[in-house]
Formats: sequence, C-alpha cells, structure tokens
Amino acid sequence: MTTPDAILSVRDLAKRFPVKGGLLISRQIAEVTAVAGVSFDVQAGETLGLVGESGCGKSTLGRCILRLTEPTSGETFFHGRNINEVSAAEMRRLRRQIQLVFQDPYASLHPRMSVAENIAEPLRVSDLDAMGRKARVAEMLELVRLDPELGRRYPHALSGGQRQRVVIARALALKPELLVLDEPVSALDVSVQAGVLNLLKDIQHDLGTAYIFIAHDLSVVQHISHRVAVMYLGRIVEIAAKRQLYAAPMHPYTQALMSAVPLADPKRERARSRIVLKGDLPSPLDPPSGCRFRTRCPIAQSVCAEVEPLLADQGDGHAVACHFPGAAHTGLSATA
Ligand SMILES: Nc1ncnc2c1ncn2[C@@H]1O[C@H](COP(=O)(O)OP(=O)(O)O)[C@@H](O)[C@H]1O
Ligand code: SF4
Ligand SMILES: [Mg+2]
Repeated sequence: MTTPDAILSVRDLAKRFPVKGGLLISRQIAEVTAVAGVSFDVQAGETLGLVGESGCGKSTLGRCILRLTEPTSGETFFHGRNINEVSAAEMRRLRRQIQLVFQDPYASLHPRMSVAENIAEPLRVSDLDAMGRKARVAEMLELVRLDPELGRRYPHALSGGQRQRVVIARALALKPELLVLDEPVSALDVSVQAGVLNLLKDIQHDLGTAYIFIAHDLSVVQHISHRVAVMYLGRIVEIAAKRQLYAAPMHPYTQALMSAVPLADPKRERARSRIVLKGDLPSPLDPPSGCRFRTRCPIAQSVCAEVEPLLADQGDGHAVACHFPGAAHTGLSATA
C-alpha cells in the first residue's frame, strides 16, 4: 500500500463540504467537493511542492492530512499508521511530528505573547523542563536567523518576514518530521520571499525535515521542491520530479501554469508565448463531466467530456491525468 521510504502516504483522500440553505437554513442542498480523491507519498527529508489555482483544494488537503478537517473518505498513513484511525491521544502525539504553517504569520501568532513565548508554546507538551525550553527557544531563534534579542519583543513589533520566521521557528520547536507549509511566503513582499525560501532550504538540509510546500504558482516552488504535484479542481493532474516537470510538463494545465513562470534569460522571456487559460475555475459544486479541465483545455476532444482521465505513470514516476499527455507541449494537436 505505501512505498518503502515514504513517511507519509495519502490514498484516495476526499473532502466534501455540505452546502446548507433553502427555507430551512439547516437543510443540505448541495455538496462542494474540495478534494476529489488524491494520492501521493512524501519521502523523508524531501519537499513536495503542491501547486494549483486558488480554490482547487490545496488548503483543505493540507488540513485533512493533519486532521484539522476530517476527510470524507480515503486514508493517510504516517509511517504506515493510518492516522484516521488513531485515538485522540495518539493524534496529539502525531501532531508533534507533523506541523502546519499558514499563509498569514500575523494571524498565527498570539499577539499578547512575546516572540519567545510564542515559540515555546508547543513545547508545553514536550518533556523539556524550563531550562530545556529556554535553550530550545534560543536554538530555534538561531535556526531561523533571528537576533536573540527579538525573543522579548511582541509580534506587532516585527516585520512580515520576521514574523513568518517566528512561525517557522514555532512549527519546528518540537523537531517534527514533516512540515505542511500553506503558501508561507504569499503574504510577504517579493523582496523577502527569497530569504524565507532559502532559510527553509537550509533548515531542511540541517534537520532533514520533509515539507509539503503549497503555492498557487510554479515559480515559488521551483527552487525548493524535489517533486511537484499540480492540482486542478480537487485532483492531482500531474506529479513528477521537479526537473522533469519544469523541463517537459505534460498536462495542458501544467503547461499553462508553466508559461506564466518568468524566465531568467530576457531574450527567451521575450520570445516565448504564454498560454492564457480561458474562463475561471469551474465551481467545485458542479465540476465538468469527464476531464475536469476540459472547459479550459486548448486541446480538448470529444472523449474528454465522456471519460475522466486517470493519473497514469508515463515513466520514472512522472504521472499525468490526460488522454493526450504531452500533446500540446510538442506542438501537436491531439486527435480523438
Ligand atoms: N469549510 C468549508 N466549507 C465549505 N466549502 C469550503 C470550506 N473550505 C473550503 N471550501 C471550498 O473548497 C474549495 C477548495 O478550497 P481550498 O482548499 O481553500 O482551496 P485552495 O487552498 O486551493 O485555495 C473551495 O471551493 C472552497 O470554497
Ligand atoms: S483529458 Fe482532454 S480535456 Fe483533459 S487535459 Fe487532456 S486533452 Fe485536455
Ligand atoms: Mg489555500
């Protein structure tokens, strides 16, 4: 069921939210499928980038992995243990191993606690005594390259970048094996984003922490990821090693996202064409039949409306959910 070196294995995970309304507000009138059956593994010490437009189910997936939201169906194994079956007490223990970092660092810090108190907060469940906790806070401040003096300050006195470093220090205080980072740099100035990304890369090198790094565009996860999964309307449509995905994306959606990634070489940047997606993300209340991407796909054929393409390995773990993988990239138009 799980690959040998995986610390986390997600299998067919789905989350549907009831939509209530009508004359009686409590009556369920529809269902939003936020996550529509997703499977992937995370290896020890690796970064899996998880990318897709806003509303495609990334945060819900992240929350389901930590059981902050209960999945509707599917399984999540952490070191082979099905975390949907463990007791509340065991889940509390598991939460030390899997931590979540949210997009908004200000909202995730306690405003009336000092930086040091915020970082020490998760340590209440550890075996460390007061001295040990103090030492761990100092260690964490150093790890995220913040001046130890900042420990006495309050979150409001910090810059956005410093606050996100405090959030990361707090998430790492218990030395978890896996960090789910939900758009951790999206709220930050572009000028400070690279610093936080480099910091996360160095921390992974030092501590061996695995990351699921959620982002809404491919450029953010390019340098930090070992593998990248692309999500569309609740499903993974492509997953591959970073090098493969960026060199030869095979799903038309990934190709469209890729065409928006700025190129370092200005000549190539000017010469290349962008694939502009038509329309908005369809409502997860009523996803298109067959392939969910077909209403925006530049190479959709009649079969795409009838048969949902399954995520199929094209070799070397590069899996794509498309009836015509790679067709648009090679400039060929697919034939039904
Ligand atoms: N608690 C909820 N109740 C109802 N719908 C929700 C809830 N949380 C998320 N959704 C819906 O699920 C879909 C996926 O949301 P989300 O996981 O936040 O996507 P992303 O993080 O990719 O932007 C959206 O259509 C969103 O409106
Ligand atoms: S299955 Fe069809 S509609 Fe879907 S991405 Fe592939 S070509 Fe486009
Ligand atoms: Mg989100």
